[in-house]
Amino acid sequence: MGLFDRHAGLLEAYRDVRTTGYDPFQIRMERVLSPTKAIINGRETLLVGTNNYFGLTFDPSCMEAAIEAIRAEGTGTTGSRIANGSYSEHVALEKEIAEFYGKKHCMVFTTGYQANLGVIATLAGQGDFLLIDADSHASIYDACKMTQAEVVRFKHNDPTSLEARLRRLGDKPGNRVVVLEGIYSMLGDSAPLREFVDVCKKYGAYVLIDEAHSLGALGEHGRGLCEKAGVLDDCHFIVGTFSKTLGAIGGYCVSDDPDFDILRVTVRSYMFTASLPPSIVASVRQALRVVKARPELRTQLWDNVATLYDGLKAQGFTLGPEHGPVVGVHLPDRMTAIGFWRAMLDAGIYVNVAVPPATPNGVSLLRCSLCAVHTKEQLDHMVEVMTGIGRQFGVLPDKQLRAAGAR
Ligand SMILES: Cc1ncc(COP(=O)(O)O)c(C=O)c1O
Repeated sequence: MGLFDRHAGLLEAYRDVRTTGYDPFQIRMERVLSPTKAIINGRETLLVGTNNYFGLTFDPSCMEAAIEAIRAEGTGTTGSRIANGSYSEHVALEKEIAEFYGKKHCMVFTTGYQANLGVIATLAGQGDFLLIDADSHASIYDACKMTQAEVVRFKHNDPTSLEARLRRLGDKPGNRVVVLEGIYSMLGDSAPLREFVDVCKKYGAYVLIDEAHSLGALGEHGRGLCEKAGVLDDCHFIVGTFSKTLGAIGGYCVSDDPDFDILRVTVRSYMFTASLPPSIVASVRQALRVVKARPELRTQLWDNVATLYDGLKAQGFTLGPEHGPVVGVHLPDRMTAIGFWRAMLDAGIYVNVAVPPATPNGVSLLRCSLCAVHTKEQLDHMVEVMTGIGRQFGVLPDKQLRAAGAR
C-alpha cells in the first residue's frame, strides 16, 4: 500500500480541480498592491477573498509600528512564551485585549488555529463533554481530535438541537463546554447567541465563542457577536484571531476565570511554539487602536456587504442566509464552482472557492469576503462580471428568458 493510498478520494478530487488549468489552492499573489488589489497571473486583480475586513494590512500607522518594533527589538523572539519569548509588548497586548473585552485575563497565541486547538482541547478533558456546532471551523474539529472529552455535535445554529443533546446527558458527571462561532466562515451567518446562552445557562454549560470573523465587524465597539447580542458576561471564553480584521497574524483567548493562567502551563500549542515576533505584536496593538478609533470602518464594511449581497441576490444567485462580511455563493457542484472561480480570475477578480470536504453539507461555494475599503464601483463591477459568468455557466437564467419570465 502506498503512503497516500488512503487519500485516494481526495487525490481524485484534487486532480479534477486542476483540470481547469489553475490550481485554486496554490494561487500565487505575485505582488500585493493594497488591501483590495494584487497582481495575479500577470494582471491587476480585485481581491474579494482575503478576510481583510477593515483593510488594515496597509494601514500606515500599523506598518510604521511594525517597522519601528523591528528596529527596536529585532525580527523574531526565537522562543516560546514559557522560555525567552515573553516580551513586555506581549504582556501589554494581552492587557489591552483583556481591557477591550472588559475581561480579566488574556493569552496571546501565535495563530488563531493554535488558540482554538490548545484552549478547547485543554478546557474539556477526560470525563467532560465538548459540544460543538456541526459547521465548526477545522481548528475546532482538530481540538476534538486532541481532547480526552466526549465530543457531541449539534445541528448548525440550532439551540433546540443543543438543548436536546444537553438534556440527553442528564446528570452524568463532567463539565459541559459548548463551542460556538460569532460568524461562520463559509456562509457568513451568525449564531443565535442569546438563545444558545440561555440553553447553556439552563444546563450549567460553559460557553466558548470563536469571534474570528466577527471581531471589528459586530457590536457597537467591534467586540463581536457577544457584544451585539449583549452576552459578553455570559461567554466564559472568547477566542479570536489577528489574521483577519487586525491584518496580521496571531490568536487570543480572554476570560474572567480566576484560574485562567493555568492554561499557560497546560496548553501545548502555547507552550511548545515560538511566540509572535515584535513587529506583529506592535502592528496588532496599533490595529486594535484603529478599530477603537475608527468605527466608520465597520459602517463602510456593512455598506459593502449590502452592495454585494443585495446585488448578487437581485440577479438570482443563491447566497448564504443573511448579510455578513463573508458572502457565500452556492453553485450546483464542485466542477461548476471551480470553472466559475477560474472564469472570475480570468476576468480579474479573486475570490475563494470552497468545495467538499471543506464545506458544510457538501455544498460547493464561491466564498467572497468584503473589505471596508472596497469601493462601490469595484463591487458593482463584480456583480456585473459574476452575472455574466453565471449566465454563461447556466447558473443564472439567460437574460432573454429572465425578461420573458418577468412579463
Ligand atoms: C472560525 C475560524 N477560527 C479560527 C481560525 C484560525 O485563525 P488563524 O488564521 O489565526 O489561524 C479561522 C481562520 O480561518 C477561522 O475561520
